[in-house]
Amino acid sequence: MRENKNKLRKEVRSRLMELTKVEHEELSSRIAENLFSLEEWKKAKTIGITISIPPEVPTVRIIEQAWSEGKEVAVPKCDPEKKTMEFKKISSFNQLESVYYGLLEPVAETTEALKEELDVLIVPGLAFTKEGYRLGFGGGYYDRFLSYYRGATMALAYDLQFLDELPIEVHDIAVSKLITPSRILRTYAH
Ligand SMILES: Nc1ncnc2c1ncn2[C@@H]1O[C@H](COP(=O)(O)OP(=O)(O)O)[C@@H](O)[C@H]1O
Ligand SMILES: [Mg+2]
Repeated sequence: MRENKNKLRKEVRSRLMELTKVEHEELSSRIAENLFSLEEWKKAKTIGITISIPPEVPTVRIIEQAWSEGKEVAVPKCDPEKKTMEFKKISSFNQLESVYYGLLEPVAETTEALKEELDVLIVPGLAFTKEGYRLGFGGGYYDRFLSYYRGATMALAYDLQFLDELPIEVHDIAVSKLITPSRILRTYAH
């Protein structure tokens, strides 16, 4: 199972690398516009989101839009030993620091944990099915977090990240909306 998932991760990652810079820009801005058009986005006071790393759908402009709409933005601080994460509020990119694998995380000392539930959680992933199942980066952080999270979940994806099938395990949790450059897919997950 793990090898199969790793093979798929590599495959999708290399497909994503083939998109040109212009394609990334154009497609990701359509994804962002679709996200901003959602009622859940408009109503949300707090957004949970990661700082993307290429070739993922970029999240910086989404975060900037959230701030400009007066929303609270919280990004995850991972605990690699326990494989858990905690969302911490940021109001500037200066509150981030580079940790393992170049991942940007909130600086522990200068950021506060979000006490209330997030209204919208943007769940990262490498590949998805139309049912909202996702292939993450292999740490299982989001599966653990989603097992007790009750707010709205959505994922941002280019069309080439969709696979007809994914190896699904009992701990894998689907997201309830998938936002692509051309549409918003609702799934049966809550
Ligand atoms: N809710 C959970 N409780 C305990 N362990 C979990 C949970 N969710 C995932 N895991 C562990 O995390 C590992 C990685 O999960 P996986 O779904 O393969 O990664 P990802 O979702 O990041 O692609 C799994 O082997 C599993 O043992
Ligand atoms: Mg998983």
